[in-house]
Parts: sequence; C-alpha cells; structure tokens
Amino acid sequence: MNSFLYDALAGRVVFGAGRRSELVEEVNRLGASRVLLIADPQDEERLNEFRNLLGDLCVATFTDIVQHVPREKAAAALAIAREHAIDATVSVGGGSATGYSKAVALELGTPQLCVPTTYAGSEMTPIWGMSEGGEKRTGRDLRALPATVIYDPELTLGLPVKIAGPSAMNALAHAAEALYATGANPITSLVALEAVRVLTEHVPLMYDSPGNLDERSHVLYGAYLAGATLAVAGTDLHHRTNHVLGGMFNLDHGQMNAVVLPYALAFNKPAIAEPYKRLSDAFGGDAATTVFELVGRIKGPRSLAEIGMPIDGIELAVPLLVEASVRNVRPLNADQARSFLRAAYEGVVPDASLFASHNV
Ligand SMILES: NC(=O)c1ccc[n+]([C@@H]2O[C@H](COP(=O)([O-])OP(=O)(O)OC[C@H]3O[C@@H](n4cnc5c(N)ncnc54)[C@H](O)[C@@H]3O)[C@@H](O)[C@H]2O)c1
Repeated sequence: MNSFLYDALAGRVVFGAGRRSELVEEVNRLGASRVLLIADPQDEERLNEFRNLLGDLCVATFTDIVQHVPREKAAAALAIAREHAIDATVSVGGGSATGYSKAVALELGTPQLCVPTTYAGSEMTPIWGMSEGGEKRTGRDLRALPATVIYDPELTLGLPVKIAGPSAMNALAHAAEALYATGANPITSLVALEAVRVLTEHVPLMYDSPGNLDERSHVLYGAYLAGATLAVAGTDLHHRTNHVLGGMFNLDHGQMNAVVLPYALAFNKPAIAEPYKRLSDAFGGDAATTVFELVGRIKGPRSLAEIGMPIDGIELAVPLLVEASVRNVRPLNADQARSFLRAAYEGVVPDASLFASHNV
C-alpha cells in the first residue's frame, strides 16, 4: 500500500428536492444578517424566489453575471458588498454565479452559501478563477471555499439539456482527472469512481427524460461527488486546456468540457496506466472512447471548431498550453500541444493510437 496525504475540507451539504426552503435556517447557522444575493439575471423567477425566501436578510443583489469572472465585474460585485456592509453571500446559479461569490469572499472573508443550478461543482472547491486581458487565472484559497451548499435538484429541472449535458461532462471531467491529479489519494479516488459510475449511468437517462426529478437528482449527486474530488485532488491537462482556451477565446465552459475530456484522457493514457484502467472499469469501456460516445449520445459538441474556436487559435494557444502543463502527469511540448489541440479542434475519434507517435 502506498503512503498518501488527504487534506480533507470542511463544508456542510444539504441535499434533496425542495430543501432550498431551509435557506434562512442555513443562513442563520452562519451567523449572518446582511446577505448579498448573487443570482443569474436570466432566471428572474428564481431571483425573486430567493429574494422572498431571504426577506430582510437580503440587503443587496448582484446579477451582472457573465462567464469566467472578468476582473472588472468581480470588482463591481465587491463594491456592492462593501457599500452594503454585507456579512455573507448567497449565490444561486451555475459556476459563474458561484465565481462572483468567491471573488467577494476572497476580499472580505465573508462566508458563502451556494445553491448550484448546474453540475459545475465549483461550490465544493476552494478554487477561484478570474479573467483579465484574454487570460484566465485560477488559484486556491480556503477563503474561497463555500461554508454551506444546498443541492436542490428541483432547481435543475429547468436547465435545458443542451446546457445540462455539457455541464454534466464538466462534472465527469472533475471525477476523471481526480484519479490522476497531484492531490489524488485513495479516498478521493473512491469517490471519483462512484461519481463516474453515477454520471455514466444517469446522464443519458437525464438527457432522455429531462423532467424526471430522480434522474436530475442522480446527476446532481454525481456532480457533487465530482466537485468534492476536484477540491482535494486537483486537475490536470483537461482543465488546464479549458482555462487556456476559455481565457483566450471566451468559449463556453460546459461545452469545452464536452469536447476536450476524451483527448485529455487519450493523451494522458500512457502516463496513467493504473488509474486509466480503474476509470475504464467504472466507465464500462475504454475511458476516452466511452466519454466521446457519451457526448455523442447526448448530442453534445465534439469539436472545438463546433463551439467557435478559430482555427488560427491553435497556434496562439500552443505556448500557453505548454506553459500551463508543466506540472501535468504528462507535460506537453509544443508539437504535442499542437497535435492535441488539432485533434480536439477537428473532433477526430480519440482512439488509443492518436498520440502514439509521441514519446511518454
Ligand atoms: N472554481 C471551481 O472549482 C470551478 C469548477 C467548475 C467550474 N468553474 C467555473 O464555473 C463557470 C462555468 O459554470 P457553468 O458551466 O455552471 O456555467 P454558467 O454558470 O455560466 O451557466 C451556464 C448557463 O446556464 C444557465 N443556467 C444555469 N442554471 C440554470 C437553470 N437551472 N435553468 C436554466 N438555465 C440555467 C445560465 O444562465 C447560463 O446561461 C466557469 O467560469 C468555470 O471556470 C469553477
């Protein structure tokens, strides 16, 4: 048995249909009385529902949410938080809404209660992200770790399958990379493999029956497990690629996840023999090809071209990806980065021989 380090994270999770009704009780547990509500403006009904639920506890709202947390928008959220002397944030929405809550918490040290409505998993992690000048920076800080998470699958019923599918691929990517990222340990691996099993089984069923609360619940549960493993184990090539491309070309995070994961797994395969085998067992087939087929099954995007990356972006991204991958299980040189990006750009089938010409 190998030795290992498990740096467990604190956090309270309330999971179940309808449990957003416990919001005030949970805010009270945090000892907060002046809440900044951060919510996706696209869902006005939800915003109003949470405003009503919070009542007098809600002293301000922030709804100017766009993906990848541009620095100036994070600064705007922070200014509102300061102006209203808030003592906690409640965020409702996808990973983007959570991102602004983290940006505020990083500066003010305020506790966060997150109510996720996608499968991004950010609510489980102390990882923050911010973009500026075409570059997305991420970091790890315990102040960014939400104190409480309410997972209410009812809130995901309205998430259209064309967003839900790729978002679930984001969760799957967290679990898959948790098997071989630098912080992986036997406990995170157990949880990650369970997440892979739950997601592989239930994502197609959720896609077929988007109004089925039980399927939505399973996928949200899988996303929770996956987020918890990301928080401890960390990430590798897949996520580093997404951060490079997301920052450069403002591509949609969920869609990038659907496209990139099969290639990241195929590229890493020679360097991660044992975790790759365990992953393939959990997937019920070769990990890279199973993910590729799963994305096809839910009619998700399978090429970077399809999601709007310009072809000349490949050359621009190569040096950044090389730099970003230095601590990967299998760092890329410029040639490898180029062929990796080209394969993902074209959406070719990620079979085992794809990167065989490159030495490990
Ligand atoms: N720090 C971390 O640990 C971490 C982990 C994962 C993702 N992220 C970050 O999160 C962001 C992406 O999050 P995301 O993929 O959830 O995207 P998102 O939050 O931007 O949401 C995607 C779209 O779904 C809509 N939406 C969300 N919930 C909905 C619902 N229930 N019904 C209908 N529409 C809904 C939103 O309005 C938006 O248009 C990225 O910036 C990514 O870097 C961070």
